[in-house]
This record gives sequence, structure tokens and C-alpha cells, in this order.
Amino acid sequence: MVKICCIGAGYVGGPTMAIIALKCPAVEVVVVDISVARITAWNSEQLPIYEPGLDDVVKECRGRNLFFSTDVERHVAEADIIFVSVNTPTKTRGLGAGKAADLTYWESAARMIADVAKSDKIVVEKSTVPVKTAEAIEKILTHNSKGINFQILSNPEFLAEGTAIQDLLKPDRVLIGGRETPEGRAAVEALKAVYAQWVPVERIITTNLWSAELSKLAANAFLAQRISSVNAISALCEATGADVTEVAYAVGRDSRIGPKFLNASVGFGGSCFQKDILNLVYICECNGLPEVATYWKQVIKINDYQKSRFVNRVVSSMFNTVSGKKVAVLGFAFKKDTGDTRETPAIDVCKGLLGDKAAISIYDPQVTEDQIQRDLTMNKFDWDHPIHLQPMSPTAVKQVSVVWDAYEATRGAHAVCVLTEWDEFRALDFQRIYNQMQKPAFIFDGRNVLDADLLRRIGFIVYSIGKAL
Ligand code: NAD
Ligand code: UGA
Repeated sequence: MVKICCIGAGYVGGPTMAIIALKCPAVEVVVVDISVARITAWNSEQLPIYEPGLDDVVKECRGRNLFFSTDVERHVAEADIIFVSVNTPTKTRGLGAGKAADLTYWESAARMIADVAKSDKIVVEKSTVPVKTAEAIEKILTHNSKGINFQILSNPEFLAEGTAIQDLLKPDRVLIGGRETPEGRAAVEALKAVYAQWVPVERIITTNLWSAELSKLAANAFLAQRISSVNAISALCEATGADVTEVAYAVGRDSRIGPKFLNASVGFGGSCFQKDILNLVYICECNGLPEVATYWKQVIKINDYQKSRFVNRVVSSMFNTVSGKKVAVLGFAFKKDTGDTRETPAIDVCKGLLGDKAAISIYDPQVTEDQIQRDLTMNKFDWDHPIHLQPMSPTAVKQVSVVWDAYEATRGAHAVCVLTEWDEFRALDFQRIYNQMQKPAFIFDGRNVLDADLLRRIGFIVYSIGKAL
């Protein structure tokens, strides 16, 4: 029986290992983490992350061949294959601050592996890391190896939150990069054999280490670039009378372009797009490629522009001031079907409105008040550094209230901002909402999920992204 250990029980480590355990009953899978709270939650009825379908998979495998533990060293020592899926945030200080990846967590995991290993190991980079990280990890492991053989593989993860289980069950591809030596190839084959339990072999791509590492950064950059492209066009649509939904549809019907990832929005969020592009920009700069760096930086600039454009639209539509006005925010998570708020555009939009002294009432079906207050008081890039994952600070933002119902959030409000595309928002009784709002009643649909014509018939003044007013 092969034993797999995964260091890091987060959004990637938890679901990925649950699927491996589900599909490979002969493999023992242990997910370890230094966070006692996280492991306790994984072992409870209330899992630490919300992901459709995850509960069922965990219930089926937990205690059978899937285990969650804080006994990091023991399970690392016993494992044949070790996945490392720790956070790789943006550095907040020192060389490369605000851009480069902070590999502190990765390095400490690697040193611990070297310390406790007593037999040969395959060490798999699951975290998204800068290209060439495997070289650094190899150095740490081999210089501390005590004669043990370590093979490093890069196996980046492409799942998206909210659809993680489906993405893992039916991935477009699994990517495995390894050293082009007999030992390296054997390690690649060993990991391939795990995935081949459920992924068709033609979908398992093998490459050299650097191609695998760079492909992950490139894939995220390409995806984010599509959103910034359509968002840039959305500004032009508003200026010209074109409709961004029609333009995106017409453009996406070209089979060379394709229809996915062309939804104009208030901006992309999530823990990775910005972090990974900044990381790519930094690597380009370090490799003497300033033009390439500038090209990718622009994807982030347009995303920031889109968020501030949205705030400006809200304030300017409401007679140039939201001071003292109640604004209902529907949706705080960075996308639907997740409770994750990392880098959500809602943070920047709320901070922008608070800057203009609005009183904000927020409703999100999956995000807690603690989380929202923490997000609104935290500095840029601090969120992914565990030292900051503390209980809510005493200086909670007073102009913000968090409620557990969309009707409560909109009661007496001057405006509604839709910032996450939760399905339930489409089904709201907007006549009821209109009746209880101040007039004129504004709706700013940052996700283009509402029926603007219907809302206008009710009496709302409606702003949708990339559409005529
Ligand atoms: P996360 O913050 O949810 O989880 C990381 C976990 O690692 C935390 O629970 C932390 O306590 C733990 N950890 C940190 N250092 C440790 C150590 N030395 N020993 C044991 N545990 C340790 O992060 P995540 O969202 O799962 O992302 C992990 C990596 O995967 C990142 O590099 C990210 O870029 C990448 N990724 C994320 C997604 C996603 O959708 N979230 C998708 C693909 C790739
Ligand atoms: C993204 C990628 O899709 C995954 O392949 C990758 O593994 C992951 O990042 C990662 O490396 O972390 P995720 O961030 O979970 O996944 O979610 P996405 O569906 O990509 O959405 C990201 C953001 O873009 C969200 O805020 C979403 O609302 C926004 N978006 C997405 C748009 O504004 N328009 C679109 O057309 C699509």
C-alpha cells in the first residue's frame, strides 16, 4: 500500500486529497497541517471550506483511507509521496515586496521533510510556485538528505473554487513535470499511476520541471487576461452604446477564441490570479524582460481600474456623494458557490464606498461577519500570511453591518450593489425590495446577473457592466 501525505489542508490540499482517496482506495492518504483549528474542522461535521460535493466525498473516505492530522512529522516520515500544498503568498516586505512569491512556508516544509525522512521520497509541488522553485527545493533536500533519495515533481493544480470536485473528477489535464533522468522518469510514472486510476492517460501531460512550473503561472495569466480584456471592452461599450454581452458572445463564437471566461464583471478576485501574475511579472523583471513584465502588469492594472470605475459609477450616479447613505452590498465572496473572500473585488468596492462615507449593509450566504470585518481592516497582501489570521480586530469598521438576509440588507437603502453572482439573487422579490428602499432606488449590477429591463419597469435606476444606462 502506497502512503501519500499532503502538507497543507487548505482549499487545494483538502479537496485534492479527498478525491485521490476516493479514487484510490488502496492508497492511504493523510492530510496534515500546522493549523490545529483547520484539522479539527476537517475532522468535524463542519468542514473548514465550503465546496459543493465535498462533504459527501469526505464522509465516504474519512476514517477509511483519508485522514486529517496535525502529527505532521510522523506522517511525512511514513509517506512514499509527499504533496506540498502550503500557501505561497505575495511578499509583504523585503526584496520583491508586493510582487515576489513568499516561499517561507514552502521552505520550512521542505526543511522539515529533510529532517524527518528516513526513506526515499517523491516530493510533489502542488502549490503554485515561481519557475525554478524545484531547483531551490532540491538543494534544501539534497544538502540535508543523509543519503536519502528525493525526487521533486511539479504537479500544479488547476481546480477552480466552487467547482473543485468536478474539476478534480474530470480535469481538462493533469500536468506532471520531473527531472529527465531515469529516477526522475520513474517518479513521474509513479505519480501518473495515481492519477491514472480515474483520469484518462491521454489527459496526463508530462513535461520537464520548468515547463510544468511555468505552465501554471501562464495558465492563470491567460485566464485573467481574458477577463481584463472583456472588462476593458466593457468600458468602451458604456461609452459607445454597444452591449458587452452581445460583443462577448459574438467574439466568443469564433472557435479560435471560444466562449468561456468572457463575462464582464466588477473585476476578478480570488487568492491566485493577482498573486500569480505579480509573481510572473517579478520573474520577468528578474530575467531582464521588462517589456514582458509590463505586458502582464497591465492585466492587473485593468482589473484595478474596473473596480474603481465601478465605485466611481456608484458615487457619481448618486449625485456625487454617498455620505451617510445606506448602500446594500449583495455578495462578498469572490465568486459564487464559495465562502472564500481572498482578494474579492468586494473588498476594494466596499473600501471605496467607505472612503466616501457610505453606510454599508452586507449580505452573503456563505461569508461570516468576522471574515468581512477582518477583510475590510487588513492591509493589501496580508491576508495570506497566517500571522494575520487572528480573531477579529477590536477596530471593526463601524459603518459596516453584516446581515443574514438580502431583504434586511436593502431595507431603507439608497442603492444595491451586486458583487457576487449567487444564484439566489436572481430569484429575489425586487418589487418588495423597491418598496422598502429610498427613492430614487439604484441598482448597480457588478455581475450582470439581474434582469435590468424588469428592474427598470419596477422603477429602479439600473447600471449594468458594459451596457447602456
Ligand atoms: P490555503 O491557505 O487554503 O492552505 C494552505 C495551508 O497550508 C494552510 O492551512 C496552512 O496552515 C498550511 N501550512 C502552511 N505552512 C505549513 C507547514 N509548514 N506545515 C504544514 N502546514 C502548513 O491555500 P490554498 O488555497 O489551498 O493554496 C495552496 C497553494 O495552491 C497556493 O500555492 C495556491 O496558489 C495554489 N492553488 C490554489 C488554488 C485555489 O483555488 N485556492 C487553485 C490552484 C492552486
Ligand atoms: C482560478 C482558475 O480558474 C483555476 O484554474 C486555478 O487553478 C485557480 O485560479 C488558482 O490557481 O487558484 P478560481 O480563482 O478559483 O480559479 O476561480 P475562477 O472561476 O477562475 O474565477 C476567478 C475570478 O474571476 C472570480 O472573481 C470570477 O468571478 C472572475 N471571473 C471569472 C470573471 O469576472 N469573469 C469570467 O468570465 C470568469
